[in-house]
This record gives sequence, C-alpha cells and structure tokens, in this order.
Amino acid sequence: MKTVLITGASSGIGKETAFEYAKNNYNLVLVARRQDRLEAIKFEIENKYNVTVIVVAMDLSNSNSANELFKSISKQNLKIDVLINNAGFGQYGDFLNIDAHKDEEMLLLNMLTLTKLSRFFGSEMVKNGGGNIINIASTAAFQPVPGLATYSASKAYVMSFSEAIAYELKDKNVIVTSICPGATQSEFGNKADINKNVFRNKPTSTDLAKFIYTSMKKKRTNAIHGFMNVILAFSNRFAPRKLTTIIAAKMMK
Ligand SMILES: NC(=O)c1ccc[n+]([C@@H]2O[C@H](COP(=O)([O-])OP(=O)(O)OC[C@H]3O[C@@H](n4cnc5c(N)ncnc54)[C@H](OP(=O)(O)O)[C@@H]3O)[C@@H](O)[C@H]2O)c1
Repeated sequence: MKTVLITGASSGIGKETAFEYAKNNYNLVLVARRQDRLEAIKFEIENKYNVTVIVVAMDLSNSNSANELFKSISKQNLKIDVLINNAGFGQYGDFLNIDAHKDEEMLLLNMLTLTKLSRFFGSEMVKNGGGNIINIASTAAFQPVPGLATYSASKAYVMSFSEAIAYELKDKNVIVTSICPGATQSEFGNKADINKNVFRNKPTSTDLAKFIYTSMKKKRTNAIHGFMNVILAFSNRFAPRKLTTIIAAKMMK
C-alpha cells in the first residue's frame, strides 16, 4: 500500500485531498498545526476506509520545520510515495501595510518549507525508484496581483520551481506536478481577509481534491483547475503585463 504525506491537511483543499487519497487506498501522513482537527480527520478516515493515518502537529513556517518533519518520518521508517505540499496562506492588503511578521512566515511556509520538503523526500523517492511530488501553486502565479503582492510572487515561485524540477526528475521516475487552483471555497479567503464575493459560486475543496488526484494519475506537469482559469492563464501570455496587473487588482477589490 502506498503512503501520501499532505501538508495543510486540517482544512480546505488539504483535508479533502486526504479523503480522496484514502478513498483510493493510500495510507496517510497528515501535517498541520491544529492537532485536534487532524485527530478528528484521522478518526473519520480510519472509520470509513481501511487505511492508516498518522498525524503530525507542526508549524511549517519555522525555517527548520522541514528538517524536523523529515527526521520524524525517517525515524518511523515510513516510505513516502506521494508528497503534497499544500500548506499555505495569503494576506490581503497593500504591501507596506500588511503584517510584516506574518508575511515572513508566509514566505517561509509557501516557498522555503515546500522547497526543502521537495528536496528531502525527492531524494528518497529517487533512491526508492520513483514517486510523486505535488506542489499547490495558484492562478495567482500567472500575473502580479496588487493586494496580494508577496503571496502571488510566492506562488509564481512554486510554479516555476516545480516545472524546473519536473524536468530534472522525470528520468528518475519522480513526477512533479504543480496545481493551480483559482478561487476555491475553503478557509483561505477568510484568513487572508479577501472580499467574500471573490469566492461566491466557486469550486469546492472537494472539487480540487479530485482534480489533484486525477492530475497526478495523468502525470501532469502543470495543471490549472477550471476552464475559465485555463483561458485566463493562456491569454495572459499575450496581454501586456501592465494590463494583466490592472485586471488582477480590480478582480481582488
Ligand atoms: N482557496 C483558494 O482560493 C486557493 C486558491 C489558490 C491556491 N490556494 C492554495 O491552496 C492551498 C490550501 O489552501 P486552502 O484553500 O485549503 O486554505 P485553508 O483551508 O486555509 O487551508 C490551509 C492549510 O494550511 C495549513 N497551514 C497554514 N499555516 C500553516 C503552518 N504555519 N504550518 C502548518 N500548516 C499550516 C492550515 O492548517 P493549520 O492552520 O491547522 O496549521 C490548513 O490545513 C494553499 O497553498 C493556498 O495558497 C488556495
């Protein structure tokens, strides 16, 4: 039986992805800060599916957290077949006004921890003869987003980094997929203080979970969720950058 490690599994896309992989017969390692939430998800999944769930309560915005997580998994002799770097958050507001400490935590979590976990588990996957790394980027990766300047830049990093290592690792049977959700119903919008209208009638986290699983099965390198988001990402290539920045700023208001 294969094992998937999912970061940010206590709510939203990560939580629903845990259920999706359990349904598809994967054992799970679930990581986030809220241990009570993780324990409740473990209880529900183990009662519903014939899989084992390990929970790890950890703050992944510490620069050494990826090392600690990898060490703890290695100590337990667990082989991770699929790594899903999903934990992430944003903070809406003008760059000079947002909470600088929170912003630094966001940059560490969205980029550094994701990078280090990809390195640690990627190396193990190469030794084991293969595996999958799935990094959750965003449609915010395709253009600058005023009001989410550092968040959108962090997601551009995730997408570019993932595509580059996908190329490097493909001959080693490690498939790297970057997923670009558009606005999705989860706790994200509330926490980021983004206008609720942005998320009205948008896909659910369950929709995203299914998309993540099928994108992995199809060995996609970069998978954008939703037809309109695919069109927007494609048209961004031809529109002047100044214009896409103005449009993104207006869409966030
Ligand atoms: N929802 C959207 O519209 C949208 C669009 C594009 C991309 N995304 C991306 O999708 C991913 C999942 O977000 P979501 O929409 O599912 O939001 P969410 O419901 O807020 O889930 C975020 C998850 O990340 C975890 N997390 C946050 N900070 C953490 C930390 N310091 N250490 C460990 N875990 C942490 C949270 O758990 P704890 O609080 O328990 O730690 C939670 O499980 C993120 O990378 C986000 O950027 C979301």
